[in-house]
Amino acid sequence: MKVAFFDAKPYDHIYFDKAFAQAGFKVKYYEGRLSTDLAVLAKGCDVVCTFVNAQVDKECINALEEQGVKLIALRCAGFNNVDFKAAFKKIHVVRVPAYSPYSVAEHAASLLLSMNRKIQRAHMRVREGNFTLNGLIGMDLHGKTAGVIGTGKIGQCFIDIAKGFGMRALAYDPFPNNKLDVEYVSLEELWPQADIISLHCPLTKETKDIVSSQSIEQMKEGVLLINTSRGGLIDTDALIEGLKSGKIGGAGLDVYEEEGEYFYEDFSSEVITDDNLLRLMSYPNVLVTSHQAFFTYEALEEIARVTVDNIKTFEKDEFLENEICYQCEMKGDCRRRKDRKNCW
Ligand code: NAI
Repeated sequence: MKVAFFDAKPYDHIYFDKAFAQAGFKVKYYEGRLSTDLAVLAKGCDVVCTFVNAQVDKECINALEEQGVKLIALRCAGFNNVDFKAAFKKIHVVRVPAYSPYSVAEHAASLLLSMNRKIQRAHMRVREGNFTLNGLIGMDLHGKTAGVIGTGKIGQCFIDIAKGFGMRALAYDPFPNNKLDVEYVSLEELWPQADIISLHCPLTKETKDIVSSQSIEQMKEGVLLINTSRGGLIDTDALIEGLKSGKIGGAGLDVYEEEGEYFYEDFSSEVITDDNLLRLMSYPNVLVTSHQAFFTYEALEEIARVTVDNIKTFEKDEFLENEICYQCEMKGDCRRRKDRKNCW
């Protein structure tokens, strides 16, 4: 198999070089992010391997098909960036559904702890020789209520962590998992009760702007909001209003609605023109990280392993367990008939 690997970063080589070599695949690495314009680079490749912020839209898919690409291998779990209807019956799409839910849940917890106890501000202060405590007060998490939206693999890990801190966990998920020791409630019940809210659902038409001015209005005064899922779950203007009014006491954001232009790149010598991002970065009670919740040794190793396995399975024309198409339910249950190897 020949693979065109887009958005390649130095750390990708550490994990992918070996995995691809062992599989005997020929790989061309490109630093650029996959787009319609760059699709031509995949000429003669069977597979393109791409990451979270590439816009794999209809034009891009058509351009890839023209180059002879047969498989898009997403090296991530989320897939909201792919136009599955456009890909159907043209190019198969696979992903890495689970690599380390711990990595993401632990990052969500890190954001929560740092934000609650103002660790980032304390660190900056101490570095300048300022050892005062004014403005650094936080709350005990013990005894507080965590509202978890989405109780899949990552949400479950986050619930375990929250419980470890002695928190009460409330959850909302349209597909509740009855095996979980958590109190499922409606969103209307969750918003006013939660002291902290952590988002762990995928970005879909239903979940877009799940945090809006209407939902913020129903939240507890001073609630802490954590988003490690997808930026589009939060209406950024509403978040900024909520922070300005004090309704939202703090936000820990690993993802941002318009992150595609900036995240994973170095803009330290340039003027950032996204006013909302600048505003969020300037607030003392907002902590932004650059979509790095997945970034652990264990997760990267597993991402490389599963991505290469997905491609091997495709090469052998066997059942593509990690394929997704527009007919797949958001629960990941595909309507594929058992006698077929893949979605079409
Ligand atoms: P999962 O598929 O195991 O769980 C998602 C859960 O969300 C499911 O239980 C599903 O029923 C639920 N859900 C679906 N629609 C919902 C709705 N309308 N409201 C509330 N819940 C809903 O997925 P997993 O592995 O737990 O990942 C969750 C999300 O985390 C991914 O969709 C992805 O966007 C994000 N993610 C972020 C990473 C990062 O580095 N920041 C890395 C990996 C995933």
